[in-house]
Amino acid sequence: MSLHVVILAAGMGKRMKSDLPKVLHPIADVPMLGHVVNTAKSLAPDQIIVIHGHGGDRVRATLNDPTLTWAEQTALIGTGDAVKRALPFLPQQGKVLILYGDVPLITATTLQRLLNAANDRHLGLLTAHLADPTGYGRIVRNAAGNVAAIVEQKDAHPAELAIGEINTGLMCVQAEHLHRFLARLTNNNAQQEYYLTDIIAMAVDEAIPVVAVQPDDVIETLGVNDRAQLAQLERAFQRRQSEALLAGGLAMADPSRFDLRGQLTFGRDCAIDVNVIIAGKVTLGERVRIGANCVLSDCELGDDVVVQPFSHLDGAKIGQRATIGPYARLRPGTVLCDNVHIGNFVETKKTVLGEGSKANHLTYLGDAVIGRDCNIGAGTITCNYDGANKFQTTLGDRVFVGSDTQFVAPVSVGDDATIGAGSTIRRDCPAGQLTLTHTQQKSVSAWKRPVKRTSK
Ligand code: UD1
Ligand code: CA
Repeated sequence: MSLHVVILAAGMGKRMKSDLPKVLHPIADVPMLGHVVNTAKSLAPDQIIVIHGHGGDRVRATLNDPTLTWAEQTALIGTGDAVKRALPFLPQQGKVLILYGDVPLITATTLQRLLNAANDRHLGLLTAHLADPTGYGRIVRNAAGNVAAIVEQKDAHPAELAIGEINTGLMCVQAEHLHRFLARLTNNNAQQEYYLTDIIAMAVDEAIPVVAVQPDDVIETLGVNDRAQLAQLERAFQRRQSEALLAGGLAMADPSRFDLRGQLTFGRDCAIDVNVIIAGKVTLGERVRIGANCVLSDCELGDDVVVQPFSHLDGAKIGQRATIGPYARLRPGTVLCDNVHIGNFVETKKTVLGEGSKANHLTYLGDAVIGRDCNIGAGTITCNYDGANKFQTTLGDRVFVGSDTQFVAPVSVGDDATIGAGSTIRRDCPAGQLTLTHTQQKSVSAWKRPVKRTSK
């Protein structure tokens, strides 16, 4: 039987107090709607229809997914009306799974349970038991314990308000029923809205069984209406990820002080200290250690790499046994071969350091290719930019660069060259020789230190 997913995403999200459409607010760097779409896709549906409202162009552009079908709901007059916007795209046969774009943590396991509940032309309904059901539609059951109707908070009698079982809003309905039911919806209720929930009583009237199932965890069914709820779901999502990482063998000093905003793959015995953020796609070899307060995005680290605290690595590829930081900044295009050492306050960009080379202190290396076993002294700077264009600095193997050297690119240095401390290198340096640009040192004998003036 075919499967069609309808995602309701027309809500404005006024309480977010934001210019960003609500469903674009991120959980772990992915828009909420993106999470729902990804989970929906894991069920291999025939199509996914997203109902958008105001700000739809921005939502479409951000998701940028040609496999999605988009339908607009111009006036927010209820969930029933929202689903109606999908009818032109829905066949007469097949299952229709209705999801919310602002309920991002729903899992494929729970949705599969909901799909199964809708077998044999039944209607599947996802419900949950909440200690405080305020605001939600309540599940009214008959004497036999079967679902009879959903009553919205604003339409409920006191006895109904006492019901703790709530409608999560997610359901699975046969397309043929949905076409028939939605045509009969009215807005004869407290909010003068077209309630999707009214189709439950219609199904019961036609003796179509309504099968209620529950999620593994109620957090899956929680929606986001304000920033506090968004933050709460972010933490829940991070907790879920951390548990999976721990189960996969990653050592974490404190799983509650770790954030993954992307994908992390890792070898055996890797360890991550507190307050680390991993973004994009990061791959760790075996026995990699990441110190406290590091941010890594889109990086690849080889076996036995050590990243010391407070380092920021972005778009870097790092060989085995390299040590980075503390306080290092590796920018995109950085390639560190095996056994490279990068120390404190060293910044690299579009730079290759050959095997065993070291830049241990206070250095900027940009647009440079550095050979193996080089020693880059403290305060070395590649002057790679003339205000208009970028130029390359090239160092051979075993080059020793004295402290406080500037390479005014383009410039290249031969193998085994030594650069004297404090040099400003503007021309190529020959292999094997000492190159320096010393000005003569002088001493001024008559010089007097200034003394502090005393006010009388
Ligand atoms: C709805 C349910 C309620 C349930 C609750 C769960 C109805 C009538 N009520 O309540 O039983 O307990 O969800 O959160 O369905 N939306 C649109 N267009 C609209 C209205 C809503 O796209 O015209 C979208 C919203 O963006 C949101 C979802 O539908 O993603 C639910 O809307 P919301 O207003 O939060 O739900 P309620 O009506 O409060
Ligand atoms: Ca709501």
